[in-house]
Formats: sequence, structure tokens, C-alpha cells
Amino acid sequence: MKAIEIKKDVFWVGAIDWGVRDFHGYVTPNGTTYNNYLIIDEQITLVDTVKHNFHEIAIDNIKSVVNPAKIANLIINHIEPDHASSIDKIMGLAPDATIYISERGKKGLDRYFDTSKWKFKIVKTGDILNTGRYSLLFLETPMIHWPDSMMTYVKEARLLISQDAFGQHLATSARFDDEFVECSSYAELDDAVIDYYSNILMPFGQLIKAKIAEIEKLGLEIDMIAPDHGVIWRREPKRVVKKYIDMADGKASLRVAIIYDTMWYSTEYMTLPIMQGIRDEGIDCKVIKLRATPMSVAIKEFWKSRACLIGTPTLNNVMFPTVAEFMTHLRGLRPKNRIAGAFGSYGWGGGAVKEAYEEFKRMGLEVAEPGIQVIYRPSAEDEKQCYAFGRSFAKKVKEYHKKFE
Ligand code: FEO
Repeated sequence: MKAIEIKKDVFWVGAIDWGVRDFHGYVTPNGTTYNNYLIIDEQITLVDTVKHNFHEIAIDNIKSVVNPAKIANLIINHIEPDHASSIDKIMGLAPDATIYISERGKKGLDRYFDTSKWKFKIVKTGDILNTGRYSLLFLETPMIHWPDSMMTYVKEARLLISQDAFGQHLATSARFDDEFVECSSYAELDDAVIDYYSNILMPFGQLIKAKIAEIEKLGLEIDMIAPDHGVIWRREPKRVVKKYIDMADGKASLRVAIIYDTMWYSTEYMTLPIMQGIRDEGIDCKVIKLRATPMSVAIKEFWKSRACLIGTPTLNNVMFPTVAEFMTHLRGLRPKNRIAGAFGSYGWGGGAVKEAYEEFKRMGLEVAEPGIQVIYRPSAEDEKQCYAFGRSFAKKVKEYHKKFE
């Protein structure tokens, strides 16, 4: 591939990772891209690098525009290794370059590399780097999603290089949203945005809202948003910003995600009448078996739905291991604005359903109690009770959802 000009004298010089399916434990069925950007001006500036095993591709892309030795400034918006682990390769080619980075970024980078021979300039929100015709404004965005995170705004190009924010894990030949949508659909692009947000950014909704408000207050004119993953937003950059605000505000579909696992099928048998009860109240359901579904997909489906029902067998008085894993993962993502309940089966001693409710309360979610449990295999009478439980849960979900309409 070659560099692609995204604005006058601003080039995408990244790499496409068609084959990655496990991104630090997050399943990426569509691969991803590592985007970085080269600004050709009196001082040549590179914004971010790429994952270490793609450095040769990115350097070739840079070479298609300029000799990398001429890079004067290297901006590191975020030190996570998918964007920063080629710094040593770039600095090897441009040893006189100055690295622009946040204070926390510098401290972190010192843990990954021997930085003693590199020149640094620590920057904070409001600092500007003039490269000639272009002025680059730095905006710190701590905890969106690493402590050192920041964005770079190229004023004269009206371009926001947004680091991970507004990104998507999509390996695609399309570099821009309009190119992607022409060959596919906004639905697929939106799904990739939700997938990314739910698995990476869910805990930071309020910070994201505050940062978007801060950027709006600064009055920055933005007609393109270039994230570090996936396609660049040039057709409707405001669309993805609005989507982020909606997600931060807790927008979700009136839908129940039934997320379960099963040992000897009893909990699985319970899902069907429960699902039918929910459906008969006019609410859509998404049923997800954890052992058959990647964690990141289960998290996304949870996030898309206003409500979640967890189904878990009891094993040794606690939740089934895959369910416990899901709940721990979910708790770390600090979900909000969702209502939850639980059901399950047990043999000689229960405990899992109670534990699931305790876990949801610990997360601070609204809970609809009581749950329902059956001993060994659900009988015909149990199935009727499950159906009634589904209907009753759905009524509570409808009531709760009104708060967000
Ligand atoms: Fe894409 Fe936070 O790294």
C-alpha cells in the first residue's frame, strides 16, 4: 500500500491487520487497522506509530511520501503498544526528532523503552505546535481510555486526530466512512462503533460527554475525524459524535439480552419459555450462550439492550464459571442505565441466582427481583413459571425504559 492523502499534505500511513482475531483478549472477527498520520509541512510531523509487527509497512508508506529521516516531530497521542510499539523504529530512522507527548505518556513510555537518548516535549491541553502552515493543538483526554491519552487537532485542516475515540476494529480497503458505506452499510459501521465503545470505552461515558462538551466550547471547527482504528469520518463526522453522546447518555434498544450458560441443559431449557414470555410482551430478545460466543460479542449485545437476564446453573454453590467470568468482565466496564435479572437451575444446593443478583447490585444496576430457579430439570409446571417470569420481567423492563424515552 501507499500513503493516502486525507487532507492537503496530511497522509494516512498506517497498516491494515486483516488477520488479528484476538486483540488483547477482545475478539476482532473483522480484523483492525493501526492508523497513523504524516503531516508534510516545513517541519514534518508523524502522529502515532503502529503495532510493532507492522512497522515495515508503515515505514514503507512514509517512504512513499518522504524520507523518514526528515521527520522532525513525532506526536504520541497514547502509549498503548498497538500505536506506540514502533517508536524505536521511527526514532532509529529519525533520531533527531522531538517526541510530543503528555506528562503521563512520557512516564509510561519510560517503562517500555530506553528513552534516555530521545528528545521530548511534554505537552498539555492548549499547547500548540506550529509546523509551518499548520498549527497542531493538543487536547488531553485522560482515561479516554488510558491515563496519558490525548488528541491532536490540525487547525487549518479542520482535522481532529482522535486516537482511539470514534475508532472501529475493521480491516477494510475503505479508508473513509463514505467508501465503507458504499460497499457495505451504515448498519455495519454503526455496529463496529458500538462494539468498540462497549468493549473499550463503556466505563468512560461521562468523561467522554464532558470532553465532547469541552471541545465544542473551544469552538473548534471539525470536518474530519481521523481515529487510530478503522475508517476516517469525513462524510458525517458529527454522526459518530452524536452516537457517542447517545451511548454516554445510556441510549439502548428496548430489548432483553438473555445471556446464559448451561451444564446439563436445564438452564438452557429455561431460556425458551422465558424468551417466549418476553416476546409475548412485545419485546425483542437476543439469546446468547456464553460457551458459544466470544466475550466481546456478549458484552456488545448486553450494551445494545436495555435489559439483561443472566442464566446460570449452580456449580459448587456459585455461578457457572463462564457466567462468573462474564459478570467480572462486565463489572469492570461499569455499565449504567440497564435493568437486570437472573434465572438458573441447581441440583442439591442453590446459590448462583442469588450471587448473580448480588453482582448486579454491586455494579449499581437496577435489578428486577425475584429471579427464578428450578431443581434439576424444569417440569411442565416450571416452564409455565418461566414463561410467567419472562412476562413479568418484560413488564418491568418496559416501565424502566420509559425513563430514557
Ligand atoms: Fe488502540 Fe488504546 O489502543
